[in-house]
Amino acid sequence: MKKVLVLNGPNLRRLGTREPEIYGADTFDDLAELCRATGRELGLDVEVRQTNDEAELVGWVHRAADERTPIVLNPAAFTHYSYALHDALAQRTAPLIEVHISNPAAREEFRHTSVVASVATGTIAGFGLRSYVLALRALAELL
Ligand code: DQA
Repeated sequence: MKKVLVLNGPNLRRLGTREPEIYGADTFDDLAELCRATGRELGLDVEVRQTNDEAELVGWVHRAADERTPIVLNPAAFTHYSYALHDALAQRTAPLIEVHISNPAAREEFRHTSVVASVATGTIAGFGLRSYVLALRALAELL
């Protein structure tokens, strides 16, 4: 079974309690289970991770590049300013889908910039947790 990583940046483990009017009432564990269940449907071996640490995320991206592992990535706030993450993702060797739960383009000005978009295969944003389901489906078609 093809391995796929679903990587999540800062604050996303607090889903369910974090600004539920924006990010919804489902928890991070609900998200992880949704991703794994979608993976089972699609014949993908999905591993879900979250970190608040830029260095750890960059390390995961390097390893994925070395192992040619596709990624679904919600970079969270790193989306908007992490050139280290951009440079790590530029080394990718497999498809990368950027996802967002909310639609950053419809929110504050600082969220309108993504330093990840230019090195992603594509971006899916604004569909709540369904953004991840759509991203995994897109990946399954690409692989
Ligand atoms: C987010 C949008 C980002 O602007 C924000 O910093 C997040 C979550 C989303 O999934 O909607 O942490 O990536």
